[in-house]
Amino acid sequence: GDFKGPRQALLCGVRVPFYAPVIDTDFEKDLSRFETREDDVFIVTYPKSGTTWVQEIVWQIYHNGKVSRKNIEERYAQFEKSQLFPRPGDEPAVALSSRPSPRFMKCHFPYHLLPMSQNEANRSKYIYVARNPKDVAVSYFHFVRSFGPDGDFNGTFENFANFFVNGKGSYGLWSDHVLPWWKRRNDPHILFLKYEDLKKDLYFNVRRVSEFLNKSLSEDVIAKIAHQCTFGEMKKNSDNFSVKDIDSKPLLLRKGQIGDWRNYFSAELSKKFDEILVSKLEGSGLSFDFGT
Ligand code: A3P
Repeated sequence: GDFKGPRQALLCGVRVPFYAPVIDTDFEKDLSRFETREDDVFIVTYPKSGTTWVQEIVWQIYHNGKVSRKNIEERYAQFEKSQLFPRPGDEPAVALSSRPSPRFMKCHFPYHLLPMSQNEANRSKYIYVARNPKDVAVSYFHFVRSFGPDGDFNGTFENFANFFVNGKGSYGLWSDHVLPWWKRRNDPHILFLKYEDLKKDLYFNVRRVSEFLNKSLSEDVIAKIAHQCTFGEMKKNSDNFSVKDIDSKPLLLRKGQIGDWRNYFSAELSKKFDEILVSKLEGSGLSFDFGT
C-alpha cells in the first residue's frame, strides 16, 4: 500500500527519527574531530531497549543512590541530537565539547559511528543495552504513536512491525545494530547488557555496572539503587522520564515487561522476525529471552 512509516531524516547515512532536530552537514564534519574523554559515559542502544533504565541506574551509581528530581533529558545529552562544538552566539554549556566532565550521553548510533579513542588508555566507557526484537518492536510502536498527530505515524502495529523487520526503522535493521556491539563485548571499555537480564536480577546487574564504572558502592547502596530502579519505583517519577520538547510528552516508561509482544504478534509475523532477525544471531553466542 502507500504506508510510509514514521517520518525520518538522514544523519551520517543513518535513518534517524524526525524529532532529531537540526540535522545539518556540520554534524558529519564535527563528528570526525569530536574528542572523547576517558571519563565520558555513553549509553548506547537500538531505541526502546532499556536506555532510560540504564541511564537512571548509572546516574544513581554516580550519585551514591540519590534520586534526581530533574528530567532524564536534562541529565544526559542525546549524542546524535547534540551540537558537538560551540557555534558563534551559543551558550558555552550547550555544546558537548565545552561541557564539564563527566559527560553523560545516550546514543542510538551504530558501532561504526560512535566516536571511540583508538588508545585504550583513554577510551571512554560504553554501555550497550540490547533487548529481544519482538518486545522492542512493540515498545517502539507505542512510542512513535505517542508523539500524537505531529508524529506523522498513525498506522497499525502490523504496519510498523513490517517496517521494522525490513530494516526501514530508524537506526536500521535491529540485528545490524546489536551484533557489532556484541562482537566487542570483551573490550574492557564496553559493557554489554541485556534488558531481560536486568529484569531477572537487578541487584546483580547494578553491581556489575558499578564495577564496570569503577565506582565502589556498599551492598546497601547497591540494594537501594536496585530497588529505586524497579519499574514501579521509577514509574512514581514518570514525569522525569518523558520527552520534554514534544507537546504530547511521550513517556519513556510504559509497561516494562518481557513478552508483551505475544499480545500483538500473529504467528506469521513472529516467524518473519525469527527468519529475518533472530536467525542472524546464530553462531554468535548471543541469544534472548522472549518471555512466556
Ligand atoms: P515498554 O514499552 O515495553 O514498556 P528506552 O528507554 O530505550 O526508550 O526503552 C523503553 C522501554 O524500557 C519501555 O518498554 C519501558 O517501559 C522500559 N523500561 C524503562 N524503565 C524500566 C524499568 N525500570 N524496568 C523495566 N522496564 C523499563
